[in-house]
Amino acid sequence: MSGPRVKPEISRIVAVEVWFCSVDDLDSVDHDHLWTLLSPDEQARNRRFLVEYPRRLHAAAYALARHAIGSRLGLPPAALRFDRSLGGRPFLAHPTGALDFNLAHGGGLSVCALADGCRVGVDVEPADRPELSLELLDGLLAPGERDRVTARQGEARQEALVALWTGKEAIAKAHGGGLSLPLDRLAVPEGDGPVTMTAIPGALPPVWRLHRLRPDLRHRVALALALAPDAPASIRVHDATHVFRGRRPPAASAGSA
Ligand SMILES: CC(C)(COP(=O)(O)OP(=O)(O)OC[C@H]1O[C@@H](n2cnc3c(N)ncnc32)[C@H](O)[C@@H]1OP(=O)(O)O)[C@@H](O)C(=O)NCCC(=O)NCCS
Repeated sequence: MSGPRVKPEISRIVAVEVWFCSVDDLDSVDHDHLWTLLSPDEQARNRRFLVEYPRRLHAAAYALARHAIGSRLGLPPAALRFDRSLGGRPFLAHPTGALDFNLAHGGGLSVCALADGCRVGVDVEPADRPELSLELLDGLLAPGERDRVTARQGEARQEALVALWTGKEAIAKAHGGGLSLPLDRLAVPEGDGPVTMTAIPGALPPVWRLHRLRPDLRHRVALALALAPDAPASIRVHDATHVFRGRRPPAASAGSA
């Protein structure tokens, strides 16, 4: 046979990592250490939190991002520089490349998700977030989503509400529009699966999917990827709590963001 040999198309596996850190398991010495890992900009933002607990969660999220991305790229955490889009979405400004990340901090958990080659979004909520109700989500639900909740009672109903909310937030964060998107046009599956976004500006590529994770008994995490439902992806979950526990502060702090 003549002519060039055509190599079979090999689908690239998208490597996704989800790192989490439990702030409930950290003592105040660890918080001091986490704080030293932040860039001056991140420290300045961190100082603006008036309440101690969310301040610790925020510091843990950025320390986690620096640790996770640094480990992935083989760089010291201080070598990374983050910036934000106009809508507030953080991104890796240095080094530039195909690595996308997203952060969430809520309940007692900070979470950082990384994906090489596709957009990623993440959200975390306590499994029993009591203020989440159908009334609160009024106007934000796609057809069928309300019925999914009303068909359940008690704990199962609460789980359904948390799954809806984390799913919508994770997708909205992967997209970048956040809560300014018309969330009623964004239909999320109950478990893992494809997401439908109808007439949402910038929702291309038209392939988005969700994965549900349970990093511990008390939290629910939704991971959103801008990836076709059948595209191969490997998802690795890491608990970084032990990485930060009882460590002494390093000599130098991180570079400016
Ligand atoms: C992003 C958003 C969904 C966060 O929800 P939340 O439940 O309060 O907080 P989470 O813990 O899930 O996530 C917070 C993190 O999401 C990230 N984030 C912020 N805006 C984001 C966006 N538009 N897209 C993706 N991620 C975003 C940030 O890292 C943020 O943490 P940080 O501020 O400490 O860096 C919500 O705050 C939002 O929609 N914000 C932007 C929309 C908006 O009003 N924009 C104004 C346009 S000018």
